[in-house]
Amino acid sequence: MNSEPHSSILSPNSTIGVLGGGQLGRMLALEARRMGYRILTWTGVDGEIGPAAMADEAIAKSFDDEAAFVAFVESVAAATVEFENIPRILLEQVADRMPLMPSAEAVAICQHREREKLFLEKKGFPCADFRIVDDAASLREGLDEIGSDTILKTAEFGYDGKGQRVTRPNEDAETVWAEFDTPRAVLEEKIALASELSVLVVRDGAGNCRSYDPAENFHRNHILDLSIVPARQPEALLAEAREVAIGVAEALEYTGVMAVEFFVDTSGRLLVNEIAPRPHNSGHHTLDACECSQFEQQLRVVAGLPIGGTGLLRPVVMWNLLGDLWPAPTQFPDWSPILETPGARLHLYGKAEARPGRKMGHATFLAETVEEVLAQVAKARVAFGLPTPE
Ligand SMILES: Nc1ncnc2c1ncn2[C@@H]1O[C@H](COP(=O)(O)OP(=O)(O)O)[C@@H](O)[C@H]1O
Ligand SMILES: [Mg+2]
Repeated sequence: MNSEPHSSILSPNSTIGVLGGGQLGRMLALEARRMGYRILTWTGVDGEIGPAAMADEAIAKSFDDEAAFVAFVESVAAATVEFENIPRILLEQVADRMPLMPSAEAVAICQHREREKLFLEKKGFPCADFRIVDDAASLREGLDEIGSDTILKTAEFGYDGKGQRVTRPNEDAETVWAEFDTPRAVLEEKIALASELSVLVVRDGAGNCRSYDPAENFHRNHILDLSIVPARQPEALLAEAREVAIGVAEALEYTGVMAVEFFVDTSGRLLVNEIAPRPHNSGHHTLDACECSQFEQQLRVVAGLPIGGTGLLRPVVMWNLLGDLWPAPTQFPDWSPILETPGARLHLYGKAEARPGRKMGHATFLAETVEEVLAQVAKARVAFGLPTPE
């Protein structure tokens, strides 16, 4: 590991650096401000501040900007990431100068599907059968060996289903590989999904670790649509998911908040899909429905404070508000169907323009039972022309 977890406690008014300028950093900044900490965000994108506007300060420069690096490391007492695709070399350079949580190594594993899969396999965590592919011949071999439908995924920079394609056993490997146009990829068995779960874990520098109640996740067009907590799955399966997620955090010697995404197949097998080395979209409900939010936990770990409770206060559903709901890129929908629902709360990320598939905000719905919450969500979604899964 590059960075030793620091034992010192950062006092309020300390400045914490965040690499990445999206909504996760924004929600972290809002929690940090509430607790009296300062946030400096380095967005990694030239010019645009966007959701990072909630930080006390923002550096709107690309990650290869040397002056930005100097300004960042000279201004902050410790650093974290809100986005996993930060160049590894930059993470190592930051970690040489200050505590970085999570570590450069943990992020480097999770940002690269090949390293991630090999790590999971080596540590004995159950996952879908896979092969590493780097040319048409290895793709042909992988298709033959797995023998059923597969999903080909780029090793790097994939998100929200981007950089993925379903492959059939008899497809022409030369054509597929030429079209896919990536140096390395993971070919993965296509799982017959019964459901998808995710578990958030918080772990501090001393190894204290807690998991949250698993979320039951529904995707539309490969993008998270709804997270339901508590998940409507057998208790034993949920306990197993929490145990595996904590095991993954321990194997990574992880510091901070992370999420493990799981597949449950039609025979009830629990498989690790992927690991997010940061707060996660399926954990946004923790802001409104848990003892301590995932963003506050991240701040607490980076600041060397005791980790907080992970208990669920009330059943909750999180609904991702994508740009598709916007009548025009800068024209907001009428949120009344959400705002008029008792127990519902609206979170918007301050993005200047909506685009289809872009995560613009989320809404959380809380009630006494999951059934009641789902009925409220379904009713509000009808007004936006969206179906709701059973
Ligand atoms: N091997 C698989 N079998 C079945 N469905 C899959 C598989 N891999 C991905 N998916 C579906 O695609 C979604 C996105 O894939 P994922 O690997 O999590 O990538 P990302 O979230 O980075 O886009 C998953 O949540 C799942 O719904
Ligand atoms: Mg995923």
